[in-house]
Amino acid sequence: MLGRVTMMSDEPPRPPRRKRYSGKNPRRFEEKYKEHDAARFPETIAQVMAAGKTPAGSHIPVLVDACLDALALHPGMTGVDATLGYGGHAMRILQKIIPGGKLIGLDQDPIELPKAEQRLRQAGFDEHDFAAVRSNHAGMKKALDRHGLAAVDFVFADLGCSSMQFDDPVRGFSCKHAGPLDMRMNPHRGMSAAAWLARTTPEKMATALHEHADEPRAESLAAALAGRVFLTTMELATAVRAAVRAADDDIDLTVRRVFQAVRIAVNDEFGALDAFLRVLPDCLNSAGRVAIITFHSGEDRRVKQSLQAGLRCGVFSAISDGVVTASPEERRRNPRSTPAKLRWAIRA
Ligand SMILES: C[S@@+](CC[C@H](N)C(=O)[O-])C[C@H]1O[C@@H](n2cnc3c(N)ncnc32)[C@H](O)[C@@H]1O
Repeated sequence: MLGRVTMMSDEPPRPPRRKRYSGKNPRRFEEKYKEHDAARFPETIAQVMAAGKTPAGSHIPVLVDACLDALALHPGMTGVDATLGYGGHAMRILQKIIPGGKLIGLDQDPIELPKAEQRLRQAGFDEHDFAAVRSNHAGMKKALDRHGLAAVDFVFADLGCSSMQFDDPVRGFSCKHAGPLDMRMNPHRGMSAAAWLARTTPEKMATALHEHADEPRAESLAAALAGRVFLTTMELATAVRAAVRAADDDIDLTVRRVFQAVRIAVNDEFGALDAFLRVLPDCLNSAGRVAIITFHSGEDRRVKQSLQAGLRCGVFSAISDGVVTASPEERRRNPRSTPAKLRWAIRA
């Protein structure tokens, strides 16, 4: 009975106890409670960022000013962020198009999408300004139809994975963190990386290693890895290291390339990108703009060829001359911006 009386007191509820960890500072992703709570611990966030790192559970947007310039945003415009992620670009885009504008934010990740939506709502953007839609951007046209929009003034995409996905061991994306070998951006759909590897043939895997990661030892690695059961990220990383032990070049780079190739296959990233590029012209108003950031050669090649083909056949009136990349200062501040390449185009 006494317990019940205590619960009815006017005392404010105590904040939940933080997770215990060994040592002076938390090391594991889920233990870094200060980094996960940027609003309460801005000093910790500033310290982590000053060290060139991304705070746990967040994502630092890349090439932001160049993207905003390429999209030539102003109040009243409607547009799509086809890869909402943390909402970093979306936040800056919304600041430019409000009042009167509207942004549709697409992402296929059911875990991160509600968090990004909440962040943008807390920043003051209501349902008139912004809609978060769980969708693959291959289905961008249908998502616009459902929101009563025939076409929009701009489309933005920042391809690949977010830092939240890479850094959370439970998502199984990274060769640096021990976790289940999953790698799905939408873990409720399709095959995990473990299932894909167990079922894939050496031929299919060699093609993935070539096309998704420019891996020079694609055939021998595929022979060593395809059809085998790896349940964790560490088991796969160890098997890759064992397969290339004799070689004297950078083994860590090979491990990263294998992870990239498998991730792209598991999420059918090139299939989704091709479909997105196909529907793109139909989604843009006349004189509408698109800006796309890519992170590796397979993605950039597809975007470049599609924009060039669009220019040749008159779908686009102008496209970027080459790519925009991060400045040395941005690379130092955020090393994850280093491989980023931005291309843009204007709808005829
Ligand atoms: C690099 S992050 C975007 C980060 C974002 N620009 C920001 O500043 O926070 C890429 C995001 O795109 C999502 N994504 C990747 N491929 C997708 C696809 N085919 N359809 C929808 N979302 C996708 C991922 O789930 C991830 O959240």
